[in-house]
Amino acid sequence: MQKKRIAIFASGGGSNALKIIQHFQYNSSIDVELVLSNKTTAAVLEKAKNNKIETHCFNKTAFYQTDEVLSLLLEKKIDLIVLAGFLWMIPNNLITIYKQKIVNIHPALLPKYGGKGMYGHHVHEAVKANNERESGITIHYVNDKYDEGQIIFQASCFLDPTDSPVQIAEKVLSLEHQHFATIIEKLLTE
Ligand code: GRF
Repeated sequence: MQKKRIAIFASGGGSNALKIIQHFQYNSSIDVELVLSNKTTAAVLEKAKNNKIETHCFNKTAFYQTDEVLSLLLEKKIDLIVLAGFLWMIPNNLITIYKQKIVNIHPALLPKYGGKGMYGHHVHEAVKANNERESGITIHYVNDKYDEGQIIFQASCFLDPTDSPVQIAEKVLSLEHQHFATIIEKLLTE
């Protein structure tokens, strides 16, 4: 069977990216081929390099005004684009060519707590402010609107009224680490 190739986009620390890299390390039919970032200082790049995975950085002009990133993805024969803490909108050229082949993880139970500006601690602060008794993760396909693509998977966790936004974030992040790579594997082997 033809090897499946993953490209991970991340803007930050990359704990999810690292879990995904580790999950497929010894998988002979699925490879993390590339890690891309919009931030040259993102710690995810170090994690990729430590695991001998090619990295590529781009700025707004390259990402939105050229086909530089799309050409690299096609050249590397990428089958699935994984957004793991990537904060920019995906440009239309990628959405079109990689239709239903771009997945994102959101640290809340969409459709609640999604949309522009709803990322990282902003999400958990809003969940806390509304005294939600549960939160969780949503893995979804990416389309041209923030966090509105078809939902693939959700998992939830109970919240204690005394939980701070940081504690909520910790509970949600552990769900991300528990599920994201497995869901990606399912998508690539179905
Ligand atoms: C996670 O909370 C994820 O839900 C969101 O961005 C964060 C990425 O964290 N999309 P990390 O960079 O993988 O540690």
